Amino acid sequence: MDIYPNDDFPTLERDGKTFVEICASEEVLRRKGTRVEFDEELQIAIFRIGERLFAVSNICPHQHNPSLHEGEISQQDCTITCPLHGWTYSLESGKSTSSSHSKVRTFEVFEEHGVVYLEQPEPIEPAWAM
Ligand code: FES
Repeated sequence: MDIYPNDDFPTLERDGKTFVEICASEEVLRRKGTRVEFDEELQIAIFRIGERLFAVSNICPHQHNPSLHEGEISQQDCTITCPLHGWTYSLESGKSTSSSHSKVRTFEVFEEHGVVYLEQPEPIEPAWAM
């Protein structure tokens, strides 16, 4: 499932952070990632393992590909494996278990009263603007 948040999506302030109301809890499935695309560069993949939700950047650092939401979820290791070349990332820390230098950003996500809330990510400065 793909979600494209815009300014009409309700938000919630908690602990000094803004969270966006993304979808209903039942829309985040157990064996499939949910892609949340704020814009082309700013995509987040949400995964459900057991009762927990995890949110990481959807952009695989290996070849900068927006593919992690289609990766293989390991419930046992709490990892996601990119479907393109098999790099694996911890859903808890974002660290790659395939390459010691690689890491995906992690984001806070929680559900309350049947609704999934995702930390509003800071906009990414495009490389051409730096
Ligand atoms: S793009 Fe993800 S492992 Fe190559």
